[in-house]
Amino acid sequence: MYNGDMERIILGIESSCDDTSIAVVDSNLNVINMETVSQISVHKIFGGVVPEVAARNHIAYIFPLLNRVMESAGVKPKNIDAIAVTRRPGLVGSLLVGVMAAKGLSASWNLPLIGINHLDGHIASAFLNKDKKPKKPYISLIVSGGHTSIVEVTENGQNTISQTLDDAAGEAYDKVSKMAGLGYPGGPVIDKLAQKGNPDTYDLPYLLKGGKHANATFFSYSGIKSAVKRILDEEKNLIMEDLMAAFQIRVVELIERRLESAISKGSYNALVISGGVSANSHVRKMATSIAEKHNLELYLPELKYCQDNGAMIAAAAFERFEKRDFDSLDFPVNPTVRPGK
Ligand code: KG4
Ligand code: ZN
Repeated sequence: MYNGDMERIILGIESSCDDTSIAVVDSNLNVINMETVSQISVHKIFGGVVPEVAARNHIAYIFPLLNRVMESAGVKPKNIDAIAVTRRPGLVGSLLVGVMAAKGLSASWNLPLIGINHLDGHIASAFLNKDKKPKKPYISLIVSGGHTSIVEVTENGQNTISQTLDDAAGEAYDKVSKMAGLGYPGGPVIDKLAQKGNPDTYDLPYLLKGGKHANATFFSYSGIKSAVKRILDEEKNLIMEDLMAAFQIRVVELIERRLESAISKGSYNALVISGGVSANSHVRKMATSIAEKHNLELYLPELKYCQDNGAMIAAAAFERFEKRDFDSLDFPVNPTVRPGK
């Protein structure tokens, strides 16, 4: 609840994929209020997000959601200092709804507008409701449905170290789940099953082991998907928990290997993990052990901020606000992944 004496407040809007989310966040990165409308039940029947349907639903949800979030927080337009919105990357139709809502609010409330890169939002999600932020330089891992990337964050900006070559980690979870008839989204279901399974029953290939890409920096999950499919097609007495445990071990093993390699090449203060897949039990354990081993401060988002949300978009806007780095009303949306604005 807003208590009237908070220094600054940014309203954050996220609509890049299938979550419509709005939050008000103060300059200590405490979330005053946030609400997300999920479209999972709508897209579930298609086994994945249908872009046109997602955009139409954002239009229906966004303004009632804005009113609810502000009213229940006791926040009035005059209490807000800026409007932040995801401008890239994402589904174009979905991005347009959030961006046009933000531009309308900025124009009618006469407030600065800040277009945020969704990936910067995920990084900032790990700082929400914490008593401090990490000291730069730090290593950031973003693992979500659309991205698996390791980025070095320094005083001078960001440098991408590892990037997705084909499917992102979350996408691999979702596709394997669809093949196995486990539903959408796949991550949470597979994570639950995997925790009950024996990972040694099925011998899935160790990703990139000894191959020509053993020391590469990219992430590739298409091979593991095919290996799981073969077992699903051929195994007569399939033990789903065991297969999912083996799949989960392999997915996380590759992330661990790439993280180890990135950390060993520099001198960092912290490890920051974010994105939908950072909710994964095995990812969280692996992150804790790597951070301990390398004496890095670990920043993991609270579970509710792992998935796409408006609070992380507001949080990412504060640095830009302090520099008065605002956007004009004519900025475009952009579907592509690229560091920076
Ligand atoms: O960050 P996010 O909400 O959206 C994107 O920006 O992509 O991430 C969604 C992804 C989905 O692929 C979902 O299956 C995955 O995060 N996910 C998980 C878990 N919870 C969500 N993957 C593995 N384990 C989980 N517990
Ligand atoms: Zn995301």
